[in-house]
Amino acid sequence: MTAQTAEKMNMAKGEARCPNAPSTQDIIAKDSVAAPGWVRSESYQFLGDEDIPTERYYEEDFARQEYQNLWTRTWQFTCREEHIPEVGDYYVYDIGRKSFIITRVAENEVRAYYNACLHRGTKLRASGTDGCTSEFKCSFHGWTWNLDGSLQKAQCEWDFPHVKAEEFSLPQAKVQILAGFVFINMDLDAPALETYLGDEFMSHLSAWKLEDRYVHCHVSKIIPANWKLTMEAFMEAYHVIETHPQVAVSNADANSQYDFYGEHVDRFISPLGVISPHLAGQYTEQEIFDQFTIGDSGGVSTSQQLGEDDTARAAMAKMFRGMFEEASDSDLSHVSDSELLDCFSYTVFPNMFMFAGISLPMVYRFRPVADDHRKTLYEVFFLRPLPTSGERPEPAELQHMADDQSFVDAEGMDDGFGVILDQDTENLLLQQQGVEASAKKGLTLGNYQEIRVRHFEQAIDKYVSGK
Ligand code: FES
Ligand SMILES: [Fe+2]
Repeated sequence: MTAQTAEKMNMAKGEARCPNAPSTQDIIAKDSVAAPGWVRSESYQFLGDEDIPTERYYEEDFARQEYQNLWTRTWQFTCREEHIPEVGDYYVYDIGRKSFIITRVAENEVRAYYNACLHRGTKLRASGTDGCTSEFKCSFHGWTWNLDGSLQKAQCEWDFPHVKAEEFSLPQAKVQILAGFVFINMDLDAPALETYLGDEFMSHLSAWKLEDRYVHCHVSKIIPANWKLTMEAFMEAYHVIETHPQVAVSNADANSQYDFYGEHVDRFISPLGVISPHLAGQYTEQEIFDQFTIGDSGGVSTSQQLGEDDTARAAMAKMFRGMFEEASDSDLSHVSDSELLDCFSYTVFPNMFMFAGISLPMVYRFRPVADDHRKTLYEVFFLRPLPTSGERPEPAELQHMADDQSFVDAEGMDDGFGVILDQDTENLLLQQQGVEASAKKGLTLGNYQEIRVRHFEQAIDKYVSGK
């Protein structure tokens, strides 16, 4: 037995961490501009080590239960406020076969109407559309609703003495706006979004000021795997050394930090500008610096000669501060090295990832494809800080990638980051197929590095079982 194995056996489950490597908190503690409290905290607990049963990734019945018990009771991100800035602006959001018209009915009021005519059911607006209107008129027989959802006109009213206008307002879902994101929940008895997310995460979110960002790039693609499997491909840095070897040179992967907060939020912090423990001692600080890949480089060159005592991480932080200030015309002097460099990936249950960083400023959204639960509509939004002029640029138009197209082809996507997304999603067909082909009926997870997967699946179990 090796000393390491002996040591592992003496530890309680979930206590082991990558040996012979600094922790994420050790790395961040050495930075020149100190990180805020939401970065400098840990919130991990062992949640069990049983296998995750795999039928949930392919059984049609499981998807049916999700539609019935999960999507109907959870808060979902539909669009950004800047998609509907003016009264009358609307944006159609679909989840499975449900569809909603998200519309601004007054300067400070956004509503989500079920997107279906109350006469014979026709969708009032086609899926995937947006626009500006003063009323919602059905294209079949012309029944019309006012922006406030009240019935304006039933064609040939004389034939509908049984229709009372006050009972024919468009039904609504709950709406809440948080950090510039418009969320809906079909459950009218659902807890407030703040309660659902919890105090700890709310304090993180308020520090990020995501309301002061705008959608700089928006890309979607159909991924040939179940939505949960697809999300889980992004929940750990454990895969970096094998899936993204080009990143590992400047990514503390095996020593990334994992946390969860209540039932609906978990995160990792994956420090960048430091070498992977898998590659320790194999590269110089200059090489680590040179191989750094960022999510939103704004096309600025990153070549620089390091001094003898410079670390790649410190040099990168310094350079990023200037570079992103220039690219986004914003003031980042108060922003810590960690916030500039590191990958902060948060899951907001059920289907959203928020990234708090500056170099990796993404939001992901994952939805099952309505008629095929073994496929996922995956979307990536890049949120850039608003220019100091205060002017809010128009949100970027959605670019949909064909199944065989690279993310690199998307306009506004950093090439290096596009390659990472291709690598992340290329494994998913093999994983979906393997999960279905396997003699083994469960997924086996690491206690620490894959805690987000377990935490996420425990919430899935809770909702699907109707609790
Ligand atoms: S179905 Fe809408 S007006 Fe008839
Ligand atoms: Fe990845």
